[in-house]
Amino acid sequence: MSDSILLYFGDEAALAGRIAKAAGMASAVVARHRFPDGEIKLSLPARLPARVVLLRSLNDPNEKIVEILLAARTARELGALKVELLAPYLAYMRQDVAFEPGEAVSQRIVGSLLASLFDALVTFDPHLHRVGRLDEVVPVSRAVALSGAPLLADLIAAKLENPLLIGPDSESRQWVATAAAARGFDSAVCTKVRHGDHEVSIELPPIDLNGRNVVLIDDVASTGRTLAHAARLLLARGAASVDVAVTHALFVGDALEVIAEAGVGQVWSTDCIAHPSNAVGIAPLLAEALRSLA
Ligand code: R5P
Repeated sequence: MSDSILLYFGDEAALAGRIAKAAGMASAVVARHRFPDGEIKLSLPARLPARVVLLRSLNDPNEKIVEILLAARTARELGALKVELLAPYLAYMRQDVAFEPGEAVSQRIVGSLLASLFDALVTFDPHLHRVGRLDEVVPVSRAVALSGAPLLADLIAAKLENPLLIGPDSESRQWVATAAAARGFDSAVCTKVRHGDHEVSIELPPIDLNGRNVVLIDDVASTGRTLAHAARLLLARGAASVDVAVTHALFVGDALEVIAEAGVGQVWSTDCIAHPSNAVGIAPLLAEALRSLA
């Protein structure tokens, strides 16, 4: 891929290095300066090839959305004919309808902004619940949704004998089903009602949990309350152990403590978002996707 370059920001240098190596691509950092008033200035390599791939995982998304706006437009001014976004974590996907009159449907708005900036998008396990396909939300000519679930399934297979995969809510069914199918694991999903940022109620599926080694699987863990609540119920109903595997390790605030207090043993994640729980790498899958877009 000689006529292309992977651009990345300094805080994602490690992931960028793994992707560039796996894809055999040149890479360069986007320099970033923050002015005293909070504005940011970016500097890209002064000459760019025809194809630019910009890596930005959109956890803590608000400032990063400004960064990718500035970077994408500048890349085109500097000669890029095709600008692709590699966002292992795609933010603002959970607000997909107006639950109350007047609410912004962030998924649609952010999706159309991204489509106005990029020719293609590659991401992992985007939170598509009431929408079937990624390109319905981000209408670019090539929208690729990869999944961390088979990678997590491989890891779980190496760690546990005959695990039972449980999804904490109906939205997780797609990831649980993918992971279970990859390795022939038993699986089921719970029913969840969210009452607030930190409050959920969960009903377990009517299955025998006695003595089972359960792994809770989800696309994203944020406050950790969903996983903690599910773990408590599972252990109370006889599960021998509960571990956690997620694609996107947001784990904000005291999330990890709350999960540990609930009795969770191991916490595993992909490196879509850099986090101490990262246990599986996405670079090889991303490299393959980049080759298919070339
Ligand atoms: C929502 O449906 C997602 O799949 C996660 O279950 C949710 O975002 C987890 O949030 P929290 O960790 O704050 O409970």
